[in-house]
Amino acid sequence: MAPQKRFVPTEQIGVGGLEIGPLEKKYVNQVLNSSRLSHGPFSQRFESIFAREHDCRYACFLSSGTSALHIALAVLKERHGWRDGDEVLVPAVTFISTANIVLYNGLQPVFVDVDPQTYNIDAAQMEGKITERTRAVIPVHLFGLPAEMDQIMEVAERRGLRVIEDSCETMFATYGGKKVGSFGDVGCFSTYVAHILVTGVGGFCTTSDDELAVMLKSAMNHGRDAIYLHMDDDKTAEKERLFEVAARRFRFVRLGYSFRATELEAAIGLAQLERKDEFLLQRRRNAKILTEGLSHLEDRLQLPIIPEGRTHSFMMYPMVLRDQPKSDLVNFLEGRKIETRDMLPLLSQPIYRQIFGDIEGQYPVARWINESGFYVGCHPYLKPEEMEYMVEMICEYFR
Ligand SMILES: Cc1ncc(COP(=O)(O)O)c(C=O)c1O
Repeated sequence: MAPQKRFVPTEQIGVGGLEIGPLEKKYVNQVLNSSRLSHGPFSQRFESIFAREHDCRYACFLSSGTSALHIALAVLKERHGWRDGDEVLVPAVTFISTANIVLYNGLQPVFVDVDPQTYNIDAAQMEGKITERTRAVIPVHLFGLPAEMDQIMEVAERRGLRVIEDSCETMFATYGGKKVGSFGDVGCFSTYVAHILVTGVGGFCTTSDDELAVMLKSAMNHGRDAIYLHMDDDKTAEKERLFEVAARRFRFVRLGYSFRATELEAAIGLAQLERKDEFLLQRRRNAKILTEGLSHLEDRLQLPIIPEGRTHSFMMYPMVLRDQPKSDLVNFLEGRKIETRDMLPLLSQPIYRQIFGDIEGQYPVARWINESGFYVGCHPYLKPEEMEYMVEMICEYFR
């Protein structure tokens, strides 16, 4: 048998990818033909299916995952009467906006180290960080894997903390059979490029709390009176109510934000949502190729785990070298057209060093991940030969 020709990539194998399919184009054209760009039927449909897919009663589609987190914390602060400087627990490894939004809201992030295997907040260390001013915790479902929600919810309930799930990197995944985004007061998601569903920019807040749902819709709409949160609210009102709507539709009841998205993003998102099973299957297949091909290196390279009772949506594929810094391996891969990214270092960011000082040393797991961890892509547009090539290159490095 003739030897097989070795696959050599002509382009970089990226951590994210996107192919806009015919369904996305069809829905976008329907929006353009309708001349309706502000919140309308596509946003409503996208919201109601997204909510149902995450075991929640409500979902608000808005401009980004960061704006979702920003208003989620703002409305909880308002409802519970928290004071400036009150504290919020945040994992020491996450994308920077998880902690930024705490600062935007005049609150104080208190960092908790993460679990060395799942990279999510270490629930066992939360308790030691709680003070009389701690009001909330923001567990992050990092890289596609749900955080340890049983333990987190147990501590939160016992110590009276509110919970915002930062699920910006994880959609449709389950913990104990329950969907991410349905455990806490509010769940926050991102539809930014390279996420599980992509709309360009965009995000969601999910909740099953009637009052919070109204507050969130108002907060993303400049703080409008709940009577007029969308431009159809006066068209659909009964005659007697119409006068009340007319009288109150230009009333603002809280310090809100302009965090809306358009029907164009919702049209792309709705089409993506209809393709989600295909995306998830492909992500999991790609991750499996890496895990199977690299498992013999487990004593040198820590691969992602899927703990019992959880599903993983594999937004990316994280790896941490057990006993050496990552720079050599990362350079080796980058030089062979494989894109890598840092595993979300937070405390070493220049702006955080400026604000909080040199505190990374207090978080040994975060520091290890920062020094030795990186991720590669496993998105649905990567082909089996590209995944096999990644395996081959990583094995070659260790040889
Ligand atoms: C964990 C996490 N939180 C928040 C965000 C912010 O989402 P966005 O970029 O949509 O504002 C991201 C974005 O990648 C993220 O990974």
